[in-house]
Amino acid sequence: MFNVAVYSPHGSFVIRISSFVISRINYGAMPQSRQRKVYLETFGCQMNQLDSQLVSSQLRALGYHFTDQRDDADVILFNTCSVREQAENKVYSRLGELRDKLPGLVIGVLGCMAERDGADMVRRMPHIDVLCGPGELDKVPALIDNAVKTRSHQIALQGNTHRRSGTLSAAEDQLELLDLSRSLSPDDHSGSAYVRITRGCNKFCTYCVVPFTRGAEVHRPPDHIVDECKKLADAGVIEITLLGQTVNHYVYDHGASISVGGVRQPQVGPGGAAFKQRDAYLAGRHVTTFAQLLRRIHEEVPAIKRLRFVTSYPRDFGDDVLEVMADSPRICKYLHVPAQSGSDRVLKLMNREYTAAEYCAFVDRVRKYLPGVMLASDFIVGFPTETDEDFEKTSELMRYCRFKNSFIFKYSPRPGTVAIDRFEDDVPEEAKRYRNNHLLAVQSEISKAIHESMVGRTVDVLVEGASSHEQKGMRDLGNRGIRESTPGSKVELGWEKPAATRTVTQLSGRTEGDLIVIFDAAGSGEELVGRIVPVTIHSAKPLTLFGELAEQAAGV
Ligand code: 5AD
Ligand code: SF4
Repeated sequence: MFNVAVYSPHGSFVIRISSFVISRINYGAMPQSRQRKVYLETFGCQMNQLDSQLVSSQLRALGYHFTDQRDDADVILFNTCSVREQAENKVYSRLGELRDKLPGLVIGVLGCMAERDGADMVRRMPHIDVLCGPGELDKVPALIDNAVKTRSHQIALQGNTHRRSGTLSAAEDQLELLDLSRSLSPDDHSGSAYVRITRGCNKFCTYCVVPFTRGAEVHRPPDHIVDECKKLADAGVIEITLLGQTVNHYVYDHGASISVGGVRQPQVGPGGAAFKQRDAYLAGRHVTTFAQLLRRIHEEVPAIKRLRFVTSYPRDFGDDVLEVMADSPRICKYLHVPAQSGSDRVLKLMNREYTAAEYCAFVDRVRKYLPGVMLASDFIVGFPTETDEDFEKTSELMRYCRFKNSFIFKYSPRPGTVAIDRFEDDVPEEAKRYRNNHLLAVQSEISKAIHESMVGRTVDVLVEGASSHEQKGMRDLGNRGIRESTPGSKVELGWEKPAATRTVTQLSGRTEGDLIVIFDAAGSGEELVGRIVPVTIHSAKPLTLFGELAEQAAGV
């Protein structure tokens, strides 16, 4: 028997578990936090990338250092994703490699997998020292410290308790303090940063684990969001991407706002009903809507040259948002709006609450307000009972909407979701694979035409860094030492090589419409990173534009 410390919204307590093996774990060699080196690897979505940045900013403030080399670390953290089984398998394989860990090493699993698997994960893999759900990330430093000092497993999860309370405002929302305490130095970014506007999700699409791992949808006070944008602009950021699972559902009710300890608290979102009867909901209330939030940031933080937001939900997307986008030169004409399927029958089973015709009408409306807008989407193929006919409707919707790119996923049954309980995963793997490839081919044709239409034009590109051709599968997230996992693993940033030996570096960046542009720069090109530069496009592939700096193209 031994002790496991558990931190929950009901306070902390210790449980005794009998089956753990701890003899291999020896914390004696662990240095003080000032000298500890952390390796943090991030899986999954932008929300996870932001969480990793906040955790690392917290640990840095306490004196931790970060390393790119797992073997060099005293603390190994995986910030995990549960959306598909494949994402979880990757983490399990990393954890498997660490089974015979060196004495003194602390291993932590953060994020959605920790929340979903809970203590089961530690039971199966007792070499994990720290488990921390996405709603408890402010506790990471304490968990690491306690793991070192008490030699017991440290677990901080929300469980389902946070869904039961009507409002988060009753208690101080510690996670809000984590966002508020964010520090970013000019060296920590490449001109771009994420800002969270909502956390969690209330949609309950039947296939999706997010409402269970990230909890109820919570909306941050608009002043906090605007102040964070100002702080980031002061640190040299010129592009901000606002993050939320369904950003267009953002609404903050000032009349219901509560402060705890002088800090205004986030609010649980009003849910879909408020949008179905929008006028009735808004009548007599003093609120900040998503459109008003966008306008405030655009007007109050003009140093932000590009303002984007992900992810939008295809319903409840008001004309007011489109009007603000059309009026505001610094709001990118780009929307990521997952369609998921083109079959009304499948959309209903997914609980998406719109039809394919409604989705297409939404796209028509967007194009009317924002000519030249770039759209991106997500699709799931092989959802239970999906027939060839259903799938053909998905291809039709894709052809109609002409997305600049789409993320296509094979349905993956997720424990805890409605779909896994209600529907058999009955589409054979072979059919899923065929539909996945077929849809990719349809998208590729559309992407190719869109990208080719850019050839000859000069576009503004926000330079992100050395192109992935040079980086071989890794993107620098600004904070060195934090890694975003993509296929491949070799890390090699272009400007880390001695500048003298490099005459030309291939740089990569994005247009306002989120098209990827690759071009050559003299020397290391480091001085262009984080800046917006004009690039003349000379050729295109389905997902990439190639060009040269406009002054070079003009022979200046
Ligand atoms: N299986 C496959 N894809 C999924 N997604 C979410 N849950 C699942 C699942 N169980 C996809 C959706 C979503 C994206 C982030 O991941 O397309 O938009
Ligand atoms: Fe998941 Fe649906 Fe919420 Fe997106 S809107 S996070 S797919 S439940």
